[in-house]
Amino acid sequence: MSFPRARDGGIIPAMERLWKPILLGAACTLLVAACGGEDSGPSKVARSRGEQVFAETCSTCHGKTGIGDGLAAAALDPKPRNYTDAAWQASVTDDRIKEIIVKGGEAMGLSVGMPAHAHLKNDPDALEGLVWKIRSFAE
Ligand code: HEC
Repeated sequence: MSFPRARDGGIIPAMERLWKPILLGAACTLLVAACGGEDSGPSKVARSRGEQVFAETCSTCHGKTGIGDGLAAAALDPKPRNYTDAAWQASVTDDRIKEIIVKGGEAMGLSVGMPAHAHLKNDPDALEGLVWKIRSFAE
């Protein structure tokens, strides 16, 4: 009769296989927290709302990469601006970006080609997320 040894399986080797991914996971979580991944800027919810609304609504004109080359942009004059332009990024406040999104171009002295999105007025997560998304094109 022989006793089961570690390499034959059983609870101890199973635990040994588990602790490595657990430790790795913990290390990754700490790293993200240390780099401010969770705490800096808008919440995760706001970011995903921003990503979602930008992809569904804004990219049609502003383009997936924010350079103003969306499908509908060909018909627009003036064209949507290139969001990677550092000078523009520096010249505009977050509040102004939010106001333009909600009120549209015409109300803000810009082109009627930029539609109003009045339904986002009471959706601070979407507005924060969109500003974050627009700012991200500059990096
Ligand atoms: C139908 C096309 C279209 C859609 C959809 C659209 N935009 Fe625009 N947007 C424009 C155009 C055109 C301009 C440029 C207006 C100008 O320069 O006079 C503009 C300008 C802007 C500006 C001002 C930039 C500047 O020059 O100061 C912001 C901010 C902006 N859009 C954000 C958004 C966001 C966010 C969305 C989605 C919620 C969106 N836009 C959807 C066409 C569009």
